[in-house]
Amino acid sequence: TYVVTDNCIMCKYTDCVEVCPVDCFYEGENTLVIHPDECIDCGVCEPECPADAIRPDTEPDMESWVEFNRKYSELWPVITRKKDPMPGYQDMDGVAGKLEKYFS
Ligand code: SF4
Ligand code: F3S
Repeated sequence: TYVVTDNCIMCKYTDCVEVCPVDCFYEGENTLVIHPDECIDCGVCEPECPADAIRPDTEPDMESWVEFNRKYSELWPVITRKKDPMPGYQDMDGVAGKLEKYFS
């Protein structure tokens, strides 16, 4: 599966949602997530993200991100249409430690 990781938080470009063939992106207030059981591993969303936040779970240390994506995809509504990124997204792109800052 692919999952959304740290750098989506407080940016939410949403380019990713338009290309997903199975509509498995879900939207929270500050970030998006992918439902790991619905993702068919096609990979087309990965290059669409300007923040490089979408990663395959085959990379090292991704287990906690898979769990994060699974947990919130079951709580948040589906998103299939691109919308404006979050206010101030330019300043937040690349900031370290967003998960700790905004989800603790
Ligand atoms: Fe959707 Fe494919 Fe991205 Fe999975 S890898 S979230 S199926 S676009
Ligand atoms: Fe987030 Fe990137 Fe999609 S910033 S909303 S994963 S395009």
